[in-house]
Amino acid sequence: MIPKHIIDQIFETARIEDVIGDFVNLKKSGSSLKGLSPFADEKTPSFMVSPVKQIFKDFSSGKGGNVVTFLMEHEHYSYPEALKVLAKRYNIEIPEDEEMSPEQKEAQSERESLYVINNYAQTYFSEQLWDTDEGKSVALGYFKERGFTDKTIKKFNLGYNPEGWENLVKAAKENGYKTEYLVKVGLAKQKDERVYDTYRGRVMFPIHNLSGRVIGFGGRTLRTDKNIPKYINSPESIIYNKSQTLYGIYQSKSEIIKQDNCLLVEGYTDVISLHQNGIENVVASSGTSLTEDQIKLIKRYTNNVTVLYDGDAAGIKASFRGIDMLLTQGLNIKVVSFPDGEDPDSFAQKHETEETKEFLASQAKDFIVFKTDILSKDAQNDPLQKAKLLRDVVNSIALIPDHLTRAVYIKECSKLLDVEERTLVLELNKIRRKNDQDKRQKDERNQGEVYRDAPLEDLQITKVSVHVNENDLNAQESEVIRVLLTYCNIGVEKEPEFDKLGNPIIDPDEEILNAGTIIIAELLEDGFAFENTTFQNIFETVKSQLETEGQMDENYFLVHAPEDVRNVYIDCLKPGNELHKWDTKKIFVKTEKEKIRLAIESALLHLRSKRLMKLIGALEQKIKSGHQNNEDIMPLMQEKKKLDEVKKMLSKPLGIVIR
Ligand code: UTP
Ligand code: MN
Repeated sequence: MIPKHIIDQIFETARIEDVIGDFVNLKKSGSSLKGLSPFADEKTPSFMVSPVKQIFKDFSSGKGGNVVTFLMEHEHYSYPEALKVLAKRYNIEIPEDEEMSPEQKEAQSERESLYVINNYAQTYFSEQLWDTDEGKSVALGYFKERGFTDKTIKKFNLGYNPEGWENLVKAAKENGYKTEYLVKVGLAKQKDERVYDTYRGRVMFPIHNLSGRVIGFGGRTLRTDKNIPKYINSPESIIYNKSQTLYGIYQSKSEIIKQDNCLLVEGYTDVISLHQNGIENVVASSGTSLTEDQIKLIKRYTNNVTVLYDGDAAGIKASFRGIDMLLTQGLNIKVVSFPDGEDPDSFAQKHETEETKEFLASQAKDFIVFKTDILSKDAQNDPLQKAKLLRDVVNSIALIPDHLTRAVYIKECSKLLDVEERTLVLELNKIRRKNDQDKRQKDERNQGEVYRDAPLEDLQITKVSVHVNENDLNAQESEVIRVLLTYCNIGVEKEPEFDKLGNPIIDPDEEILNAGTIIIAELLEDGFAFENTTFQNIFETVKSQLETEGQMDENYFLVHAPEDVRNVYIDCLKPGNELHKWDTKKIFVKTEKEKIRLAIESALLHLRSKRLMKLIGALEQKIKSGHQNNEDIMPLMQEKKKLDEVKKMLSKPLGIVIR
């Protein structure tokens, strides 16, 4: 936990224009700065930064927020991570967490020591590669032969651990590092008293975490001897969790975001050669099957994955299970299979960037279609095989969380397999019911909780109709909230009353209220809660801030508020949002204050009207059913009459007709 006063200090010190300036080329535009959106590909700048308000708004992606939310969105940091990055940048010290136990503190410093030793080893391996005779002739020669350029080798910090038993161990010792840590990260092994290098005569591929620190290595042998392992990989340690790591994620994440697509390959060299070829949105699962955490890692950046396959049908089929897992997570998956004998590495080495891109684009097949294709080759003219194939394919479709997507696939596969859609839907519902049952049982076992029933049946969807709720108050509620947040702290006199001669009655003692107080008082008088819970939350927060502080705390909304609340607030700050509705020719207003008063009145009026219409509608329903059941509907009729009166009254002030 970072103490609140430090958080405040970070926000006070950090300059959003500096921080964003590291990522976006910003130019002055009026009182704000403008640049190309870092979240979307665009030609005309629609990304705004306001140094005055310390917020950004991206009009092409709709994202907006403060300096911390920018780092969270753009760099995918967690909230505390983003704060720490800023603290470091502005030399703000975050006090050590007093709640940390001595064990935790030790673990913290051990983690740090492991990072440090890996970092040292990486530097050492690079030096061996570039600056020693053995490195230059053997290792650099090998990389060159594989077509890696100097730039690529440096970009991925590739290195070399020379032949011999204790090159690294000795060098580390001489430089004051504890061999204990070398053993802990797997760079050295210990047998009795003897400590020796793990990687002897191997080229080294450092594995980085998201922030670029080295957490492990893959070391490739330069021999062709089939009896020794091709790669030796670091064991897991407190800084290296294999199931949460993807090779290349650090070098590729920004391009994955930009392309909104992640290429998934098998090996280190596939990632590296594709990068060299100018295709930089690629990570490797490092030869193992994907884990759920790795998928979540990808999902932080994109929902679209393209799996690049090399090799034979057997290998492809073996990978289907892993891909099913991607489907479960709601990712859109395409696959590209390479020609016989080629893998992404060899292909990228042989072709120009444009050719590779063109190949990937033209070969990418939808996974479900691809799977259906491959499996149906086995099933030709064999009814038993065909039934199995059907179940296999529908099994994959059943994992897709979104029902519309499922419907699209059912349609597609019905064509591909020449099976009626109905049959597939029946099978699908059966599988989903079973999966759901399994999940329920598992949940019950895990938590002893009752699983909430989810709608299961998939319909045959041919047309998608959008249901608009006429009773929805969202537009009216949101306008009231917008006016509340925009003008809350601005003082507006009450509308003056006039004496018989038409002169305003001026009461010198009357206090000027701020807009927020007026709106809150009016809303309280109505006695309704907002239907939208975020709005209700905002209403209550502003109300209590006004009661205790006398005004709304802007910093709370920009910094400390929950995300949904913050987003509403930031939307209100859009340039040009202020009063735009009231600069119309119809209504003539003289002063800013008058405009605000008008904005308040109108927003409240629209909300009240809509609420009223809803009440009347409900009442009419009651009257109708009461009438059918021969009940006494007189009291209801009277109530309706009252509401109709109110409706008439409400429709006067702005000449708005209520429908
Ligand atoms: P590959 O055998 O395809 O290796 O295994 P590669 O990366 O393409 O290497 P080159 O091109 O032969 O030099 C794919 C991945 O499987 C893991 C590694 O992560 C490798 O990148 N692997 C493979 C191991 O961990 N150990 C091995 O012995 C082999
Ligand atoms: Mn390879």
